[in-house]
Amino acid sequence: MAAPATVAQVSPDKIAILNHQQYDAPDTLSPSSVLPSPLDQFRAWFTSVQGRVHEPEAMALSTATPDGLPSTRIVLFKQLDARGFVFFTNYTSRKSRELEANPRASLAFYWREVSRSVRVVGRAEKVSKQESEEYFRSRPLGSRLSAWASRQSTVIQDGEVQKRMEELKQKFGVKDGQEDADIPLPDFWGGWRIVPNEIEFWAGKPSRVHDRVRYLRVEGSSDDSPQWKIDRLSP
Ligand SMILES: Cc1cc2nc3c(=O)[nH]c(=O)nc-3n(C[C@H](O)[C@H](O)[C@H](O)COP(=O)(O)O)c2cc1C
Repeated sequence: MAAPATVAQVSPDKIAILNHQQYDAPDTLSPSSVLPSPLDQFRAWFTSVQGRVHEPEAMALSTATPDGLPSTRIVLFKQLDARGFVFFTNYTSRKSRELEANPRASLAFYWREVSRSVRVVGRAEKVSKQESEEYFRSRPLGSRLSAWASRQSTVIQDGEVQKRMEELKQKFGVKDGQEDADIPLPDFWGGWRIVPNEIEFWAGKPSRVHDRVRYLRVEGSSDDSPQWKIDRLSP
């Protein structure tokens, strides 16, 4: 466990963090040593942190309105295929409304235990209904019901969603503890895929002399077999 930061109460309305841990990623990153595809590089990193990093699938997702007002929240990375990174959500939520109006997004992972971070920037597309259905069926009963019960990102009263969960159990005829109850995929719920144009890998190093390697998609190369230009960036 890293030493806790020293927090100083500078004045009644100001706190300051006076120190921070040094980073020392186990790996050295270089454009000449990374894999030619950033998706393969991500797969290798993600696989290697399993069991070493708590919840490595938690990622920050940034969206923006068409006039550029950004917002960020945490979602769970669920799949990586040949095109990109998939997460699941409510299609009427704030993030989905922003992606419909401005289908560009950024993701950031931070894996503290190994001093690594990844940034993904790209275009958002909805996954197919079949992919959403397959994933929805794999969710626990409570998560399938709450997808129906929550009009995500709207203003609600205390206890409203819990009440709706109970009503939905009645509606779908779910008996107590019946995990395999047949709950259909709501048509307002499913996956988004972020198809990257840019992926950056960051490995934290002592004295902030970090390694940064960025892949930029070569313009005109296709989504299904993209080509990449790989550079080192200054920390
Ligand atoms: C660790 C963690 C994982 C989360 N995973 C998801 C997720 O996969 N999908 C989702 O819609 N919300 C997820 N949430 C909730 C979102 O952060 C957010 O509150 C919600 O999606 C509404 O965001 P929006 O109003 O910007 O659309 C997660 C939150 C945390 C802290």
